[in-house]
Amino acid sequence: MSTLLEVRGLNTVYRTPAETVRAVDGVDLTVERGEILGVVGESGSGKTTLVMSLMRLIKPPGRILKGGEMLLDGEDLFRLPRSEMPARRGQDLALIPQSAMHALNPVIPVDRQIAEGISVHQGVGRKAAMRTARERLREVGILPERHNAYPHELSGGMRQRCIIAMAIANEPKLVIADEPVSGLDVVVQARILRLISELKESRGLSMILVSHDLPTVAKICDRIMVMYAGRIVETGKARAVLDKPLHPYTRALVEAIPQMRGPRQPLQPIPGDPPDLHNLPPGCNFRPRCPAAFVDCKMVDPSLEEAERGRKAACLLYHKENRK
Ligand SMILES: Nc1ncnc2c1ncn2[C@@H]1O[C@H](COP(=O)(O)OP(=O)(O)OP(=O)(O)O)[C@@H](O)[C@H]1O
Ligand SMILES: [Mg+2]
Repeated sequence: MSTLLEVRGLNTVYRTPAETVRAVDGVDLTVERGEILGVVGESGSGKTTLVMSLMRLIKPPGRILKGGEMLLDGEDLFRLPRSEMPARRGQDLALIPQSAMHALNPVIPVDRQIAEGISVHQGVGRKAAMRTARERLREVGILPERHNAYPHELSGGMRQRCIIAMAIANEPKLVIADEPVSGLDVVVQARILRLISELKESRGLSMILVSHDLPTVAKICDRIMVMYAGRIVETGKARAVLDKPLHPYTRALVEAIPQMRGPRQPLQPIPGDPPDLHNLPPGCNFRPRCPAAFVDCKMVDPSLEEAERGRKAACLLYHKENRK
């Protein structure tokens, strides 16, 4: 595998007269070619802000701070003139947004809207664009007789398939999906996730997949990145993170997963309140909720460091001086 995306020092803030919120706080990440990187975290942890920053779609009062880098195939997209970004979106980077239903135009049949995007980005004629659009729709499992349907004529699952067809229409280098299965019922969720896995195999899709649901992400992702209060607190291979979470926050996320087998248990919320981003505690952000906190956690803000081979955690428990 080789590295497709390398992000270094990404900081995105929302600045209002009343407060400054560091929604993405010093994030570094990489995506290898053909890899799905999962991003998980509670509501408000900065996942959408991260996604929109990578698409360069952050709007005021939000702002990406200077100094970060986003190398896609070695080219720093943060340094491109803003005017070049619309062409890159769709072609280099494709977004499946969190409110995916708004991604479809309600008054245009789905094949035509996908074809329009293909015409614009690839400069091909209408007929050829329509042919490619229909190929993509077939690829995501939409039967030919539904290709010219309007969005409202399709079920939620089918609309989501169309949005995926639209995202891969121009064969982007990287697809970024923000909660692509939330709002769908469990059976449809499973089908859409299977489709994403199949596309990964058939196309060698490279993807960032955001979800607040750790088991969902673990099923189809190669690696996982856990976010808390705008920071990455843990990274590692998906299965390893799920089987043996290191950071106490990830452990709490895993413990909150309802068990399928054995006696039914109520869903366990993560104890304590979600962090208040403009009033973070000194030391470790997670300390007020952390069952493993010790005295140093009040003073030291832990950096993300290698905890085990291929695993990183931002927790003093894994810093060298505290390891037994
Ligand atoms: N336009 C905005 N103006 C001010 N603050 C914002 C804005 N958008 C997001 N925020 C703040 O930034 C933080 C991160 O929000 P973000 O939407 O990125 O979280 P998220 O992890 O995607 O949450 P969810 O799981 O609910 O989608 C939150 O504290 C949020 O209140
Ligand atoms: Mg979000």
